[in-house]
Amino acid sequence: MTAPPVIAIDGPAASGKGTVAQGVAAALRLHYLDSGSLYRLVALKASREGVAANDEARLAALAKSLEIAFDKRRIRLQGLDVTEELRGEPVSAAASRIAVLPSVRSALLSRQRSFRRPPGLVADGRDMGTVVFPDAVLKIYVTASAEVRAERRYKQLIEKGNSVTLEGLLLDIRERDARDSARAAAPLKAAADALILDTTDMTIDQSIAFVLERAKAVLKSIRA
Ligand code: CDP
Repeated sequence: MTAPPVIAIDGPAASGKGTVAQGVAAALRLHYLDSGSLYRLVALKASREGVAANDEARLAALAKSLEIAFDKRRIRLQGLDVTEELRGEPVSAAASRIAVLPSVRSALLSRQRSFRRPPGLVADGRDMGTVVFPDAVLKIYVTASAEVRAERRYKQLIEKGNSVTLEGLLLDIRERDARDSARAAAPLKAAADALILDTTDMTIDQSIAFVLERAKAVLKSIRA
């Protein structure tokens, strides 16, 4: 039996990849994996348990034993809803620090692959098309200028009542981009066979439509 098809959507922080991936998964009634939330969950659990961001062995053990539940749009860690806390800047920064550690990445590999179930999966992250699902039927690399990404994150965080500054967020995004791209293990980069989607001047609906059009064509051809 052939494995269920995967649509891989990768890209830098706040590029819109999560919203695009969720929109495509909903329109095509496919499963959805937000791989960044796994790195965020490891970071959150580590900070709660006082595990240092460079203690690779303990972090990998923690990544293997994570007790998590994805329920529609809510995420639970050991039964407690942590959805909002996961998106905060302290967890974002810590997640990108622990994501450089090869043993943490490999500890999360089989968990990510277990989301691949019929009728198919839309997976979003940094290395979906390059490492986790190299056989994805469609690979999209979503990007946008750092300024536009900082503005988007600013709006999201302000709406939720966080006190942040645009300058601070731009700095965070640049730091995270640098760390994600420079790391040796599964660095952020477009797969050789990925289509590049630059959303700087695009709306969410236009971005979703771009991916949907291509996804429908690919799925039709493999199901034919
Ligand atoms: O939404 P945003 O792009 O800001 O973050 P995310 O996708 O939730 O990812 C949080 C952090 O986890 C990133 O800064 C990456 O360092 C890391 N990550 C990763 O290394 N590999 C993935 N497949 C997904 C996220």
